[in-house]
Amino acid sequence: MVSYKELGLVNSRELFKKAMEGGYAIPAFNFNNMEQMQAIISACVETRSPVILQVSSGARRYANQTLLRYMAQGAVQYAKELGYEIPIVLHLDHGDTFELCKDCINTGFSSVMIDGSHLPYEENVALTKKVVEYAHQYDVTVEGELGILAGIEDDVVAESHTYTEPDEVVDFVTRTGVDSLAISIGTSHGAFKFTPEQCTRNEEGVLVPPPLRFDILEEIEERIPGFPIVLHGSSSVPQEYVEIINKYGGKLKDSIGIPEDQLRKAAQSAVCKINIDSDGRLAMTAAVREVLATQPAEFDPRKYMGPAREELKKLYMHKTKNVLGSAGKA
Ligand code: G3H
Ligand code: 13P
Ligand code: ZN
Repeated sequence: MVSYKELGLVNSRELFKKAMEGGYAIPAFNFNNMEQMQAIISACVETRSPVILQVSSGARRYANQTLLRYMAQGAVQYAKELGYEIPIVLHLDHGDTFELCKDCINTGFSSVMIDGSHLPYEENVALTKKVVEYAHQYDVTVEGELGILAGIEDDVVAESHTYTEPDEVVDFVTRTGVDSLAISIGTSHGAFKFTPEQCTRNEEGVLVPPPLRFDILEEIEERIPGFPIVLHGSSSVPQEYVEIINKYGGKLKDSIGIPEDQLRKAAQSAVCKINIDSDGRLAMTAAVREVLATQPAEFDPRKYMGPAREELKKLYMHKTKNVLGSAGKA
């Protein structure tokens, strides 16, 4: 048994409390390699932002669970070396079984998500409660989910949104004992969140997707005041990255994300954690494609992974400063 406390990590409880009071959201950035981890930590140290390092089960399979845990431990030391200690949470993203959550808790994670959102309600309650009972023995915080996001959730594919039902939230959080709740109000995973047909054009001709369902969020906030809410699928899909990718041989079509003003508004509400993965993938891919296309004789991975890391850092600094409002809160 390795406790996250020995690794210098923190759970999310205190961070969410402050985020709720301060009207901002903690960034949850996914990582599965060294450059991503460096970019996340250096961006958050430089902007003085608390951060949640997220590991999906796919990331665990890709990078090896032991290496990822040591990387998170290394991240704590790396932040110190960079000159400022920020609170760092190591979080399991979209855990789908009790065994996976238990394994992460036993190996140094400070927070886990148990995603039973695709299960019948009573099964979601039972599974989530079981994870909470185990996690709380070790002071590990737990995120549950109610409602189904459109798009791809790891291996689970949902064709359309099933928005969170406000009538269920009180029962769910009291019976399970979860520390935070992921909800479905119109966000979705990946870089193709909306079709152009679902969008309208503004005066500049830019496609604007339908707004998030803030009415549902408000109803949820009324039922469980002060309870930390999580938004998954919150990439904005910056069009400058899509253009660079396509300019240098990529083929991304109709990539549309959540406008940043919608996320800014959400961050000021009970939404305390905002998940961003796809934007980072786009930033890295754009940088790598540009180097490989413009410097075809280059074959040292540092020459394209380095610029990818720089671009990622820039993106994450922008998110903490201008979108989530977490900069300066560490
Ligand atoms: O919500 C899913 C995250 O973006 C992680 O994606 O399962 O491909 O690692 P992944
Ligand atoms: P995006 O695909 O919008 O980045 O969402 C990531 C996410 O929700 C990870 O759990
Ligand atoms: Zn997610």
